[in-house]
Order: sequence, then structure tokens, then C-alpha cells
Amino acid sequence: MTHCTFEHALAEAIQLARLAPSSHNCQPWTVHFDPVIHCGYLAIDQRRKLTGLPSLEREMLLSCGIFFHFLEQLVRLRGYPLHWRWCDAQEQQALAGEDRALIRFMPGPEQPQQQSAFASLSEQLQQRHTVRSAYRNTALSAQQHSELNTLLKPYPITLGIYYQHTHGKALAKLTQTYAGLDFANRAAWRETYSYIRFDERRQYEDGFYLHNLFGPVSGGFKTFFKVAFHPRLSGLNKLLGLPGKMAQGLAELVEAGPQYLALSTTKEGDEALFRAGLGLGAMWLRLQQWGWAMHPISVLVQHDNARQALAKSLSQAELPVFFARFGEPNESGSPAPRRHWQSILVSDTHGQVQPRTTGR
Ligand SMILES: Cc1cc2nc3c(=O)[nH]c(=O)nc-3n(C[C@H](O)[C@H](O)[C@H](O)COP(=O)(O)O)c2cc1C
Repeated sequence: MTHCTFEHALAEAIQLARLAPSSHNCQPWTVHFDPVIHCGYLAIDQRRKLTGLPSLEREMLLSCGIFFHFLEQLVRLRGYPLHWRWCDAQEQQALAGEDRALIRFMPGPEQPQQQSAFASLSEQLQQRHTVRSAYRNTALSAQQHSELNTLLKPYPITLGIYYQHTHGKALAKLTQTYAGLDFANRAAWRETYSYIRFDERRQYEDGFYLHNLFGPVSGGFKTFFKVAFHPRLSGLNKLLGLPGKMAQGLAELVEAGPQYLALSTTKEGDEALFRAGLGLGAMWLRLQQWGWAMHPISVLVQHDNARQALAKSLSQAELPVFFARFGEPNESGSPAPRRHWQSILVSDTHGQVQPRTTGR
């Protein structure tokens, strides 16, 4: 591509940034752009955000931060560095509809494109998947550790790295103790279950298939899971001890590590969480460049008691906002569904919102 307008670069970037990871793959972001004044907002789409637990608000901000990190890199490499700032409380409510504006952005003066860097970022974004299966025992080198610390310097984040041989057993025990909380809170489990896609032949725009969570699964397993974990049958599945078995399976994966990372923010508030998301996006991509992957274990940061126990077990003064096992996976993950990019981009002229072409 020799020259592209900012509008074109933005649309193209959204098509790739939508591959960003988000909790339950809910993709809570939306971009309002006014082509007349050349200014846009990144917002949380209130209809898409998770609400099953109050702590999920943190994950929505982190997820939007990751998305915006990808978007910002992509348009910059197409020659449009973005200027942006956090919206004040009044501006957050200024968008038509129910979207909550997080940041206001506009393109800076056009610069030369970086075609090969764009192509390689695009490739990384398409290859990156959450990997929930076994990882190799490849250890994080001192150089990689220092690379991650340097990468995260611009963000309000403290990064803690922990190892299987020192923390594996304790973290597995924590997981075994608390992972059942995923199923214990009715509203939260109902919401999680609503994102599980049982029909692999259908195209969805969000959520995950069972093979995204467990790898290849049989038809029998799918039917069993669909019925046994149905939120209306929570009494039955407790009776069968299923939450405990799921917790044990996750605990075994956690115990295998081989490494863990915990992020906490160095500042309070939503802006810090969003900026932490930018850093998390940068780190997720760096791992991808190494051929590594992450498996977030968010149940340990979503409930106050689990979060405090996690901080204690990691000897951290601050409560983590994100926790994951990571390393070099044996196998790559599989692509999860995504929304169409046109349902993310809203053309917003003089406050008159053009309806999205698709979306829920
Ligand atoms: C803030 C955040 C929390 C997440 N928590 C979990 C989690 O607890 N367990 C899990 O398996 N995946 C978790 N994920 C990964 C998402 O489920 C995943 O990004 C989404 O399904 C899309 O899949 P992909 O990353 O393979 O593209 C989390 C992702 C983010 C951004």
C-alpha cells in the first residue's frame, strides 16, 4: 500500500485489533469516529461488557487497553501516530447510545509507512491465541525477564514473575481451593455459560467453543458438558462433584506452570487499569514473538478472598489485577470467534450516530 487515508488505516487496524484477547471473548470495545472533525473515541460497549461480578469491570478496562494497544501500533505503522487522552467523567457520558467513552484520539501528522513491520505485526496478531494446554519446561531467561521489565516501564504496572519450582504447588493449591467459585456464583456462571458455544458448525461473533477451552473434544463430551454444567442444574452438578473436578483439572495445569506472571497497578482508578491493559497487550505480543503464550487464571483475581490469598502466596503487597501461567506451549491454540469489524466502528458525525451494520 503506497498511501492510505486515516479512515482506511483505522478500518484496517480495527480488522486486526479485534483479534485482541478479552475476558470470555466478549470484545467489549467500540470505536466512534467522526470523519468530519477527524476525531474519535474508544469506548466500552455497555451492551457487551461482562457484569456477572463487580471485578469484571477491571477486566473490561484491561481488555479495552489491550485492544487499543494493538490498534495504536497498527495505525502508527500505517503512518498515523495517534494523539490521545483519557476522557473526564462528563465526556465519558457524552456519546450517543450507552457507550462509555474511555479515551479521545486523533491522528497526528502523516509519516512514512513501515510496511514490513506492519506485515509482521499483522501476522503476530493472527497467530496469537490463548493456550490452555500443556507448556514445555523452557525457562524464562534473565534477558527475557529484563526485556519484559523494560517493555512495561511506560505503564503503571508492577510485574511479578514466579516459577514452577518455587510456587507451583502453592498456586495449584490456591486454584484447587478457589476455582470452584467460577460455578458457585450463579450470576457469574450463568454469564460464563452463555459464552460457551456448543455448535462448532455455527459461526459466532464472540465467546468460545469447547475446543478452545479443552482442545479437541468428542460429541459425547460436548453433550455431557452442555447438560451437566447448565446453570439451572447447579444442584445436580454439585452433587456429582463436578466443580471440584474442574477445579482439580485447572489446578494440575497451574501446577505445571512452568512460569507465572502477576500484574498489579501502581496507581488507583480506571485510567490506570486501561493503561495497564496497554502494557498487557505489549507483553502478550512480546511473548507471541518468542513463540510463547499465556493462559490467564482470572478466578484467582476476581474474588476478594482468592485475590488476597494469591497476593499473600506471591508475597505481594499490592493485590494483582491479572494472573496467568505462561511459557512455550507444546501446541498452538485455536482461533476463537470474532465480531465483524463493522460492528465495532461507529461513524459519528456531529453527534449523529450511524447505526452499526451488524452486532447484537
Ligand atoms: C483480562 C482477561 C482475562 C482472561 N481470563 C481468562 C481466564 O480466566 N481463563 C481463560 O481460560 N482465559 C482467559 N482469558 C482469555 C480469553 O478467554 C481469550 O482471550 C478469549 O477467549 C479470546 O481467545 P484468544 O485469546 O485465543 O483470541 C482472559 C483474557 C483477558 C484479556
